[in-house]
This record gives sequence, C-alpha cells and structure tokens, in this order.
Amino acid sequence: MHWRHTSQTSVMTGNGGCAIQLLATLVDSDDAEESEYRFLVNGKHVKYVTVGPGVYPKDERTFAPVRIPMLPPFPPGDWNVGHISKDEVTGRPVFLHTSHEDLPGVRSIWHPQQIDHLELTKVKRIRQNIYVATCARLEGSVLVKIAEFPWQMHCYEAESAAYEQIEGKGIGPDFLGHVTEAGRVIGFVLEYLDDARPARFEDLLNCQRVLANLHAHGIRHGDINKYNFLVQKEKVTLIDFDSARLCSNQSELDAEYQSLERSLLDCSLKGKP
Ligand SMILES: *[C@@H]1O[C@H](CO)[C@@H](O)[C@H](O)[C@H]1NC(C)=O
Repeated sequence: MHWRHTSQTSVMTGNGGCAIQLLATLVDSDDAEESEYRFLVNGKHVKYVTVGPGVYPKDERTFAPVRIPMLPPFPPGDWNVGHISKDEVTGRPVFLHTSHEDLPGVRSIWHPQQIDHLELTKVKRIRQNIYVATCARLEGSVLVKIAEFPWQMHCYEAESAAYEQIEGKGIGPDFLGHVTEAGRVIGFVLEYLDDARPARFEDLLNCQRVLANLHAHGIRHGDINKYNFLVQKEKVTLIDFDSARLCSNQSELDAEYQSLERSLLDCSLKGKP
C-alpha cells in the first residue's frame, strides 16, 4: 500500500451553499483503504472526511479544485467528521454519516501564545506538514508545523515537549506559539531561518557545540543528519525534535555525539527535506 499526500493551494469552490477548500489529502494508491481529506468550509470550519474505496475513480480522488463540485453537498450543522460512500440505490456518492467528535489535541501546552490556524497565511510549503506562513500577530515569516489529521497528533507531543526543555538555551529555533484548530492544539509555530543552509563538514565544531548543549540538558536528539543542523554565518541551529527524548544514559548520548562527524561526511540525501 502506498499513501500519497497532496495539497492544493487555497482555491474555494462552491458546493451547494458552501465554499469548500481542500486543505489536505491522504489517498491509498491501491484504493483498498479509505481516503482521508481535511476540508475548510466557508473559510471557517474544518471537517475531516473519509471516502470509502471505489467511490470515485482512482485518479480523481485528490479533488483538484475543478473536481470539488463532484463531492456530494456538505450537510449543514456543527459536524467535524464525516464519511462519504456510494448510495446503495443511486450509486452516487453521498454523506453516509456526519458527527461532532471530540478530536484529540497535543497535550504538551506550555507556551503562552496560541494562534488559530486561520490566522496563518501560507506562503510556501516545505513538507507535507510544514509550511512557511505569515501572521498579523507575528513579525515576518514563520515556520508552521501541524498535524493534518487527528490521528497524527501523538507525533507532535514529544516535539512540543522538547521545545519547552530547550527554550531560551540557544539550541533550536525560537518557539513562537501553539497552533490551534477549533480550540485544540494541532501543532506549533517556530522562527523561520530562511537564510540557513544545511551543515557541511567544516561546520563540525559548531555542530558539536550545539549537540553537546542539548546533551547537557539530558536530551537525545534521535535524528542526527546534516539537514537538521542549520547554519547561518557561524551560528548553528538544531531542528526537528520529533524523535527527541529525555535520556540519562551517557553512553547513548556519547554514541549520538560520535555519529555527528559521520553524518556530516555522509553524501547521501538522508534527511533531506
Ligand atoms: C545504556 O545504553 C546502552 C546502549 O543502548 C546499553 O547497552 C546500556 O545497558 C544502557 N545503560 C543503562 C544504565 O541503562
């Protein structure tokens, strides 16, 4: 099974009386499993919709804006989770059920600032779940990292917690706040280092310094590669803390420290965004 992610830029398309915007897609290329969608309705309400296999032709499931009219009318009401399948009689796609569910959120909430995802204007996509954005409450461009689907939330727990541990210690980018959707935390906003480059071998000493600083706080990074050390002039910033864990085992920390030199020499693209 292969999962294919796609994301469209913000184009609104009418659906009955609603404006529908597709925010994220996860389709199974074998079409054996449900496809998942994150929609924004009327510029305000996020709705998570699953579509049964075989409901739409395989290559039409990404719902490029021109295809959004192929979706059945979105039922009115305060629902956030819905499922589309084929109507047994007509064979046409219909919403089989919708419900309002208490979706999970990130629980490691420590920063005083919370920013609703609707306050963020996407400028550029970096990865599926990471984008550069602007926000009226923040200066310049920022980096946004969010869970696109509720079941991905656990991946953000450790990373949000790690940012609290390293706050103000000159190890990672500045943590600017938690991102919310309908009140629950789905990710965070970081300082965006747009003039940074991945580390090279000649940056070894500066990279070692920042990694030693992390280890001195009892944290193991867990994903050492040159793309996770961003260099600006002399300054090195460590990023990507989703594998970070508290670690009191000195030999594990030493092993990670030793692996850094090898990683900077690695010519493969391991870890490239
Ligand atoms: C520390 O980690 C090493 C390597 O994983 C392991 O062999 C060792 O038993 C660990 N020591 C302690 C005290 O847990």
